[in-house]
Amino acid sequence: MRFDILTLFPEMVKAPLEDSIIKRASDKNILDIHYHNIRDFSDNKHRKVDDEPYGGGKGMIMQPQPIFDGVCHIKEEIGEKPYVIYVSPAGNLLNQDKVRKLSENKNITIICGHYEGVDQRIIDEIVDEEISIGDYVLTGGELAACVIVDSVSRMIEGVLSDEECFEKESHYNGLLEHPQYTRPFEYHGMTVPEVLISGHHKNIEKWQREKSLEKTLKVRPDLLEKAELSEKDKEFLKGEGYNG
Ligand code: ADE
Repeated sequence: MRFDILTLFPEMVKAPLEDSIIKRASDKNILDIHYHNIRDFSDNKHRKVDDEPYGGGKGMIMQPQPIFDGVCHIKEEIGEKPYVIYVSPAGNLLNQDKVRKLSENKNITIICGHYEGVDQRIIDEIVDEEISIGDYVLTGGELAACVIVDSVSRMIEGVLSDEECFEKESHYNGLLEHPQYTRPFEYHGMTVPEVLISGHHKNIEKWQREKSLEKTLKVRPDLLEKAELSEKDKEFLKGEGYNG
């Protein structure tokens, strides 16, 4: 899968994506990540990329020309129109369902805004989807772009070493993950739940499922409305006081 990131600060995006699992997947050519400096596409002799907002107001707005030309350049390189995302706090909220859908694309281009955002004509003409990574405001879209590349990449076959890894994890099946323990058995006077060292797989699975349900009910009850729940799950939740 190919990602193209258009940003005024390529170094800010490179660091987290050129390490660990994403780096390994890039080295194996499963991922192909390209970084483009928006300034390189400016046709202004001073490489200017922003200007004051029409109608007045504080801050600067990123002009349409460098971004538009940047996306055209990427399109020519790929040979087809990529799926274009603009990251902004005003977009659709990112969740695991959206991540899964995005992972079906062959080419994703992410436009990172800075300052007071981009000229609306960019959004109207070339952006397929405006995405927010949460209800808070970042200083720019760079960290949001990294979150999208990271979360979408781990859904692509071969990026994670063991498929099991992502099947059981939080949000993959709509529930939060159960607690995990490793050695030593006792730490600061706290021991590992006995069931986990019992070797009884059915009991372990039941414990894990119940802990997962318990945690989701406590922290994110909203997720239970959409999660796939068995009759046993529902019975357990009822016992915990959930009547959804
Ligand atoms: N840029 C600034 N804040 C953002 C957010 N919450 N999500 C995506 N892009 C952003």
